[in-house]
Amino acid sequence: MELAPPRGTTDLLPPESERMRRLYDLAHDVANLYGYRYAETPAFEPTELFVRTSGATSDVVQKEMYTFQDKGGRRLTLRPEGTAPVVRAVLGASAEVSLPFKGYYVEPMWRYGRPQKGRLREFRQFGVEVVGSGLPAADAETILLGHEYLRLAGIRNLRLEVNSLGDQVCRPTYRERLLAYLEANRERLRDEHRERFRENPLRVLDCTDESCRAVARDAPKILDNLCGPCREHYDGVLRALDDEGLVVHQVDTLVRGLDYYVRTAFEYVSPALPESQASVGGGGRYDGLAEVLGLTPTPGVGFALGLERILIALEAEGVSDLDARFGVFVVTVGPNAFPAGRELVRAFRQAGVPAQVPFEDRPLNAQFRMADRSGAAYAAVLGERELSDGTVTVRRLADGVEETVPRDEAVKRLASGDV
Ligand code: HAM
Repeated sequence: MELAPPRGTTDLLPPESERMRRLYDLAHDVANLYGYRYAETPAFEPTELFVRTSGATSDVVQKEMYTFQDKGGRRLTLRPEGTAPVVRAVLGASAEVSLPFKGYYVEPMWRYGRPQKGRLREFRQFGVEVVGSGLPAADAETILLGHEYLRLAGIRNLRLEVNSLGDQVCRPTYRERLLAYLEANRERLRDEHRERFRENPLRVLDCTDESCRAVARDAPKILDNLCGPCREHYDGVLRALDDEGLVVHQVDTLVRGLDYYVRTAFEYVSPALPESQASVGGGGRYDGLAEVLGLTPTPGVGFALGLERILIALEAEGVSDLDARFGVFVVTVGPNAFPAGRELVRAFRQAGVPAQVPFEDRPLNAQFRMADRSGAAYAAVLGERELSDGTVTVRRLADGVEETVPRDEAVKRLASGDV
């Protein structure tokens, strides 16, 4: 039997699992700080939900969906992205939330791509969606939230790229212009796009192939072709981001890989990642999505960040505090101290300090080895002397510095971080 996890998936065990959990915790904290409410949708949905919204020509729909038939003959797909499910849930039959709904999710997604660094078949996203506001302030708030999250996660080098993709009024005209230009430059495109650029000409613009890039450089620019309301919206977003002090790079070839976007599109790019997977996250506005699902037309905007990619970027940037040890491991010397150790663990836990103790009395060296491997930041040692005078010796495991203090004080100090 194959014991490795399925190709493109990973087992999360310490310390990687703890790094990941810190990203989950931070997602809940930052989203709540901005007033976003937690949302969860099923791991699978009717295939049609994604085909209609991501777009028939998108990579997600053409190549990457995990689709299966259940025993009732329904065609279902493991969720490749979270936007369409959230919009369905918020505006669909059972919803009782008021608009605008500001929601977020931290969930696994599945895409059947060719696995490589930063590209998995099962990966995790932190996403936020504002459903029910078409205002530039909503775009700016989500962009800011994602930026703040990445900063707090420890990412130092980040490029915020934005563009406007126009809407159903101005994009068709632009598309025709672009098509005419690509038609005239067809021979310069790489094979795949030479054959298929008519299906989705905008995708050529963000192709990473050098020859396609050269064609994209001279292509008509969507920003020069925006209608009045789209231009006004885009200027409003840029102004709001400027007010927040965010440095924005306007990238007129940024188009995103899903079809539901209109107007604002953005990406958070990390120079520490391989170029083809350089986006730690991205998003934009999807004002037409609800209508495509037969729901009341409702504007929306959001983003999703790839949590595995954030971890790769942090590692590449050499951010080491991810491995921060925490809590205390109680070490006892001799059979008399063992029961006192359990009492001390109880006191630590009651004070909110993560604490552990061996399941059985072990030799001192073995206990210190356990303490070190456990990931604890401190060892609290109870020996003969400490037992008789009501103290405990607190040793910082990173450098062995230690101090003997009354037990109450040790608990108080570790609980307040004053050590
Ligand atoms: P997306 O650009 O397809 O957008 O994915 C967002 C992020 O998920 C990417 O920037 C990347 O970090 C991560 N990601 C995507 N595919 C993979 C993969 N195969 N392996 C590892 N990480 C991956 C969306 O999903 C939209 N739903 C975002 C959005 C929300 N737009 C509006 N609201």
